Amino acid sequence: MNFHVLTLFPEAFDGVKHSMIKRAMDDEKISINTVYIRDFAINSRRQTDDYPYGGGAGMIIRPEPIYDAWQSLNLPKSRVVYLTPSGKVFNQALAQELSQETDLILLCGHYEGIDQRIIDEIVTDEISIGDYVLTGGELAAMVVIDAVARLVQDVIKPESLAHESFSDGLLEYPQYTRPTEFLGRKVPEILLSGHHGEIAKWRYEKALESTSRKRPDLLREKL
Ligand code: 6GU
Repeated sequence: MNFHVLTLFPEAFDGVKHSMIKRAMDDEKISINTVYIRDFAINSRRQTDDYPYGGGAGMIIRPEPIYDAWQSLNLPKSRVVYLTPSGKVFNQALAQELSQETDLILLCGHYEGIDQRIIDEIVTDEISIGDYVLTGGELAAMVVIDAVARLVQDVIKPESLAHESFSDGLLEYPQYTRPTEFLGRKVPEILLSGHHGEIAKWRYEKALESTSRKRPDLLREKL
């Protein structure tokens, strides 16, 4: 899967190219191609933003540099995700859906936003990563890349995905490793028992308990 990111801060994306994502890039399961919007600026001052018509605070990114940056990709049929706090809230189901695309274009806004006509012309999806405001779309795009990339075929083992939080609508059960006792806190006896059926039941109960305590909204969604 190829991620194409239209951004004014391409160097920010070095931040996501570590660990699992780096390995997926090295193995050519995914690629992250940043397109610097400023390279498509409209004048010799390399200007990309301008004042909002109608007045108000801040600057707006002009439509032409974004349009030209998008056209340079020559992917007219690919989904274009605009990262914005006004978008639909990102979740695991949407990550799963996006992981099936071959090319995914991510458009990062900055300042007070981008000209509405570019949204109307090229954007297919508007995504927010939660109900708070960031200074720009780059961190949100990295969140989307990370969540989507790990779901791409052969990036991680299917069994690693099977029981993680949200895949079955529940939060994860607690995990333990050695030592069997730490600062007086013991590993639950059941996990040392070797009774796989009992362990699975205990984990399901713990996942339910954790979800109902911390995220009761997830249980209501399941009904
Ligand atoms: Cl996608 N962008 C910005 N600027 N702020 C956000 C966001 C996106 N999602 C939540 N807050």
